[in-house]
Amino acid sequence: MNPRHFTSLLDLSSEEFHFIINRAIELKNNRDPDYQPLKGRLLAMIFEKSSTRTRISFETGMAHFGGNATFLSPRDTQLGRGEPLQDSAKVISSMVDCIMLRTDKHETVTTFALHSSVPVINGLTDQEHPCQLLADMLTYFECRGDIKGKTVAWIGDGNNMCQSYIHAAMLLDFTLNIACPNGYEPHPEYVKAAGERVRFFNSPLEAAQNADLCVTDVWASMGQEEEKKQREIAFKDYQINAAIMKAAHNDALFMHCLPAHRGEEVTVEVLDGPQSVIFAEAENRLHAQKALLEFLLCRK
Ligand code: CP
Ligand code: NVA
Repeated sequence: MNPRHFTSLLDLSSEEFHFIINRAIELKNNRDPDYQPLKGRLLAMIFEKSSTRTRISFETGMAHFGGNATFLSPRDTQLGRGEPLQDSAKVISSMVDCIMLRTDKHETVTTFALHSSVPVINGLTDQEHPCQLLADMLTYFECRGDIKGKTVAWIGDGNNMCQSYIHAAMLLDFTLNIACPNGYEPHPEYVKAAGERVRFFNSPLEAAQNADLCVTDVWASMGQEEEKKQREIAFKDYQINAAIMKAAHNDALFMHCLPAHRGEEVTVEVLDGPQSVIFAEAENRLHAQKALLEFLLCRK
């Protein structure tokens, strides 16, 4: 049987996305140390970029489930010396039960999945960050209930997070209002696929009007460090601040995948304010990924 991969949120149906959210809530609220469905099983985690949350949440999740996780960096493996992806995928998957990859090119993850005999998980690419969306949506459902029919304002870069938010809007049936500076919009293919679920606004204030959730991310993602100065200029009017939160609904939540830059994409007042759920969101990476691992590895 072909393994079930998670290279993109769109690898899930809408029902499956809901199932994972509900299961994550169950796992979070009723932790049973004797429940070890992944005893003796191993997750290989290949990180070609830095990580705090993704690495720790996967390692902890595997440990809770009785399994193990091994951290691989390109510096220490033959992948970093140019061993072909196909060969690496075949070899690694012959010895482990699941592979998580964080890398630049999305095609690296899809190529790995094509040649792997075990499930492959996208731990972030330049195009998408689907694991983060499992946690963000889990956080919204926990705090406010179903997100169907709600409005989410994405303010800032049309980056990997924004593109995964587009997928979430399609699967969970909410409207995504996007305000990005010219030239920093999400890729047209993502926008086209989402149809009426996505709306663009020239001003962040308009995008935030009546929003139920306001979200942003860093102005310069990993790998874009050289563009930092130029991006600071382009994004200077795209900060989430008190005025933006005021335009949103009174009970709107604020989310950020972290790490954040206080005073750049978001003010201290908002990031550390009462509407911010950033630390619940970060913790939920653990619970959402446990539900994902169980979904990919334990279904009959
Ligand atoms: N949000 C997120 O993916 O964090 P890390 O880069 O620390 O894994
Ligand atoms: N957009 C950010 C997300 C980090 C979790 C990046 O790719 O660096």
